[in-house]
Amino acid sequence: MSMYAFSEREALELLERHQTPFFAYRLERARERFIELRSLLPPRVELAYAVKANPGLPLLKLFSSLGSSFDCASAGELKALQEAGGCSSLILFAGPGKSEADLQAALAAGARIQVDGIEDVERLDRLLAEEGRDEPLAVNLRVHPASGIEEGSRIIGGSGPSAFGVDEENIARFLLELAPFTRVRIAGLQVFASSNERNADSLLSNHRKALDIGRQLTEAFGLALEYIDLGGGLGIPYADTEAPLNVQALAEGLAVVLEANPWFNGRLVLEPGRWLAGPCGVYLSKVLRTKNSRGSDFAILEGGINHLLRPLLTGQPFPCAAPGLRGARRDYILAGPLCTSLDRIGLAHAPQLKAGDALMFGQAGAYGRTEAMSDFLSHPRPAEYWL
Ligand SMILES: Cc1ncc(COP(=O)(O)O)c(C=O)c1O
Repeated sequence: MSMYAFSEREALELLERHQTPFFAYRLERARERFIELRSLLPPRVELAYAVKANPGLPLLKLFSSLGSSFDCASAGELKALQEAGGCSSLILFAGPGKSEADLQAALAAGARIQVDGIEDVERLDRLLAEEGRDEPLAVNLRVHPASGIEEGSRIIGGSGPSAFGVDEENIARFLLELAPFTRVRIAGLQVFASSNERNADSLLSNHRKALDIGRQLTEAFGLALEYIDLGGGLGIPYADTEAPLNVQALAEGLAVVLEANPWFNGRLVLEPGRWLAGPCGVYLSKVLRTKNSRGSDFAILEGGINHLLRPLLTGQPFPCAAPGLRGARRDYILAGPLCTSLDRIGLAHAPQLKAGDALMFGQAGAYGRTEAMSDFLSHPRPAEYWL
């Protein structure tokens, strides 16, 4: 599958119709990817789209119509999901710090809350007491693994120190602290510490580790788990040299993981964001000026980290093409229009560029517009077109 949701000809048509800079999304691609993944996964795996990757309403409506569950991580994401018509399946609610307002919104939405620490439990217990609920609320516990989960991309953080969840070695202490809060019961587990992983074996070894923690919760602490949530993390290529994730191998491996853990009779949850949404979007921006500075070629674009921040955060540029341009290629440093030398959005190996030429960034359907510093320097936000 091409890293660009639109061909060169389609990109040129888009550029004729719309003023840059803008994002364009091909919903059909998102549909195909959801259906492909759903059809490969064992039925006991719940597929929950991670809204943070791209909370665009057309995308939420599409996934909802396909029967998706959703992972939300703020009251705003829950609101977006409601605006998109809601969800008839499972809504999960995560986040390393949850305010009372967040938790109230999650309770109102009927979401399955993933508690990250005793403070979540205290706040929930208080809210449930105010509501006069008698039945304890079933929640999932997010556990941060002590070892064995690494990641290359600095997004979730591997097994090092982390703001997420309860550290694995502190589970017993957490469960003791939980005892007085009788309105909350742990009936599920979430373990997610590695993102943008394109190697199915690495993902599966993380998932086996999650099941090991689940077994520990069940055998040592007597908890019956309805869900084990494995988070997201399914990676996509950002460069021609990177191979795509073998989702069939991942799906088959998950079936083996379930077979190897007969003690667990609940459902596994996968929360992919990037894998589903990334490949359906592109970002198009024109060159405002070019410059050679002390031997380096720069192209300064209409949009920078106010539209695409991910490359600066992760060191992973989005793939970049120059639709309609031909000729010998050279390397450009891509800068944005912001008044800061932080404003770099990647590199291009492109034919000679001049003011007015457009560049197209692929795989920008996830962690594009919503991961950017939209307000920095007060430039207009980019438009979004859903096709
Ligand atoms: C709890 C949770 N679930 C799912 C995701 C989605 O991850 P990805 O886009 O890597 O699939 C994230 C991303 O940060 C997350 O924090």
